Amino acid sequence: MDSDNYFVPESLKAGLQETQSAFFFPVLAPLTTKAKTCFMKEGPQGYDFGEAFPEVVDAMDERMSLNADMVVEQLLLPVTEFKESLRTILDLGSGAGCVSRAISRRYPDADIYAVDYSEIAIEKAIETSEVQGITNITFLKEDLTSLPKEWTGKFDWVIMYDVLHDLPDHSNAMKEVM
Ligand SMILES: C[S@@+](CC[C@H](N)C(=O)[O-])C[C@H]1O[C@@H](n2cnc3c(N)ncnc32)[C@H](O)[C@@H]1O
Repeated sequence: MDSDNYFVPESLKAGLQETQSAFFFPVLAPLTTKAKTCFMKEGPQGYDFGEAFPEVVDAMDERMSLNADMVVEQLLLPVTEFKESLRTILDLGSGAGCVSRAISRRYPDADIYAVDYSEIAIEKAIETSEVQGITNITFLKEDLTSLPKEWTGKFDWVIMYDVLHDLPDHSNAMKEVM
């Protein structure tokens, strides 16, 4: 948990391990100077993951890979009540593609699109999928607040996992997604 530059007090370590958050400190700490500008009057609403270090993308993907199959099963529960088959699936804010790959394992014949506005994440997602021989996911660099018009009504299932809290304007983003 500790690194050469950062440490977590001994008394807090147990709790942080339980919430699986500790891994984030060493990777996010270098971004705090930038984050401070968001609290200034004329500052940005936030900064995007696209500007993050590759280590952030790697850390998130690594953490998520432990649970991705279970997450997909849980997200599917309400969906399968309404849909008999899922042929076209869109994963919004896919990061480096951990959940997208779990969807691909679950639906190897589906046509899956996975989008993220982080170039680093998309590059990593493509690389990993090539290594794993996955051919039914198209990874694209897109901003989910402004998706291609021709995608309207295209997908049987749209998922957005662990993303909503990262968006500065949830309501408008959800209007676009709906
Ligand atoms: C916490 S990560 C979750 C990644 C992935 N869904 C997972 O569970 O492993 C949030 C992701 O949302 C992406 N994201 C945030 N805002 C976005 C936007 N407006 N358009 C596209 N992607 C966005 C970030 O780049 C990041 O990869």
